[in-house]
Amino acid sequence: MSGLLRKYRHLLDLPAHTAEVTLYEGNTPLISMPRLAAELGGGFDLFVKFEGLNPTGSFKDRGMTAAISEAAGRGVRTVICASTGNTAASAAAYAARAGLKAIVLIPQGKVAAGKLAGATAYGAQVVQVEGSFDDALGLVVAVSETRPIALVNSINPYRLEGQKTAAFEIIETLGRAPDRLCLPVGNAGNICAYWLGFRQMHERQGSGLPRLLGVQAAGAAPLALGHPVEQPETVATAIRIGRPARGEQALAAAEESGGRIIAASDDDILAMQTLLAAEGVWVEPASAAGLAGLKNEIAAGLDVRGETIVAVCTGHGLKDPDAVTRRMAAPEVVAADIGALEGLLGEAE
Ligand code: F0G
Repeated sequence: MSGLLRKYRHLLDLPAHTAEVTLYEGNTPLISMPRLAAELGGGFDLFVKFEGLNPTGSFKDRGMTAAISEAAGRGVRTVICASTGNTAASAAAYAARAGLKAIVLIPQGKVAAGKLAGATAYGAQVVQVEGSFDDALGLVVAVSETRPIALVNSINPYRLEGQKTAAFEIIETLGRAPDRLCLPVGNAGNICAYWLGFRQMHERQGSGLPRLLGVQAAGAAPLALGHPVEQPETVATAIRIGRPARGEQALAAAEESGGRIIAASDDDILAMQTLLAAEGVWVEPASAAGLAGLKNEIAAGLDVRGETIVAVCTGHGLKDPDAVTRRMAAPEVVAADIGALEGLLGEAE
């Protein structure tokens, strides 16, 4: 068993002092989704790259093994990040693994339970900011400029180096790049990392290039709208971001690929979360955004017949249990009695 840095070191642009800190991230499954493909109109092959199966439950672990390994190898003792939750949990875990201190700034009251619990469990100093993710990012950038603290947000180039590995894995599994890749977009680091990874492999081995479909939540869609959003709002709190740090780079990547960045409504995102779970893959709301956008594009006439499409599902459903439980009725109750259960089940087989 090896971590991503050991496996892909020859393909990653990391300084020589990098000292691997790993929790055996990556190597996530590419899951075939025939029923969901049929639901979306059929005629194409659909796979989910289920990044929720990383050690802390999100894709952030790919970038974090790289960023923390670089920081630890340089002798840094403290790392800091702003986060909508997943980066916080991942930074906390990898810092703990390396014996470093982690400070995480999160938007007050807007972080899902599983993420806050994770960051706390791994021993990070968790600070709630009276403001948005964008405000928190501004603060950590300023602090890291004046103190010997490593910034591990995706502004840090090593985060992208680590996250490129997801593209490498997809190519290894399919034998080539997919025709299309859809994924959620928040601070816009991940879509840039995928593009770097696919381009790198295409230059090396002619593996092809996917069209990128980046999807933001409609209430937090600065790239789809073409201007910053001062008060982003969405049920997909992971991507509740109004001024993405890598926005320009993401737009350029999408355009270069022949794809684009669009928005999907919260209702469409939650409906897609339900559809994914109905085929056995439970993801957090933000992770359903890519497919929600794809569904809308197909409904609006996008022709994907004959294509192989990969949807990146970035975080596990367990990250945000409230997204499901607050919409459900309490489960039915039955007396501890076989007659009562038989009555309740009726004709069920
Ligand atoms: N999906 C999930 C589950 C995320 O947590 C994030 C980002 C994204 C998608 C978007 O990725 O920012 O690279 O465009 N979460 C960050 C965080 C902002 O703090 O955890 P991106």
